[in-house]
Amino acid sequence: MKDHAAVKCALEVAAAGGHNMILIGRPGSGKTMMARRLPSVLPPMTMEEALEATKLYSVSGLLSIDAPLINSRPFRSPHHTVSTAALVGGGTVPKPGEVSLSHHGVLFLDELPEFNRDALEVLRQPLGDGVVNVSRVSASYTYPADFCLIAAMNPCPCGYFGDVFRQCTCSKRGNIVPQRPLLNQSRGVVLALDWSRQMGYIWFRRTRSESLARCSTGSTSG
Ligand SMILES: Nc1ncnc2c1ncn2[C@@H]1O[C@H](COP(=O)(O)OP(=O)(O)OP(=O)(O)O)[C@@H](O)[C@H]1O
Ligand SMILES: [Mg+2]
Repeated sequence: MKDHAAVKCALEVAAAGGHNMILIGRPGSGKTMMARRLPSVLPPMTMEEALEATKLYSVSGLLSIDAPLINSRPFRSPHHTVSTAALVGGGTVPKPGEVSLSHHGVLFLDELPEFNRDALEVLRQPLGDGVVNVSRVSASYTYPADFCLIAAMNPCPCGYFGDVFRQCTCSKRGNIVPQRPLLNQSRGVVLALDWSRQMGYIWFRRTRSESLARCSTGSTSG
């Protein structure tokens, strides 16, 4: 991972403190790549945490004979087309959803504005309480869901708002409101995000053996 020292630092602090965070930057600035590296800086799981996570994977039928114990922190990255039931759990025979499979780990929502608003609304309860209640006609189930939420998005629909190298074309279409996609999302989720980190662009010059990188800008808010 080249440069982006401030983003790396913010991710480390989020990992250490279990903070929720959003990465905002132009296409190709490395948002997805950096979020995917987060598990490498998370502290090891305690045996109690590992057993809790293992139980959730077991009832979901996701344990394998080769890895019968979940002893590294889960990193779940559901696609933005994920249904509400798949996110929080449900089904005729209720099963834990992505929020519970991320228990003691990370739930990564890439391209946040693309997610269905209803699906994001249901994240309110686990983000606030660390558990999720799934009610069915036959019974009601409570699954643990204590996770660190990391989201990523472009600053505007074209992706280049505030970019020093490329002009944002959204203004031409009359919708130059960079925060709009974020504000359109669930208010509960937006409030749960402790930090936003805007990622500047890094230029790459690939040589035969390595890539040289230079960082342009980066600013923070939230
Ligand atoms: N800081 C970096 N260090 C090393 N490689 C990088 C860095 N930033 C970007 N890259 C390279 O650029 C590629 C694209 O990065 P990535 O997909 O994470 O961007 P993105 O911000 O998520 O873009 P999009 O908005 O299109 O999803 C990565 O696979 C990686 O090879
Ligand atoms: Mg991406």
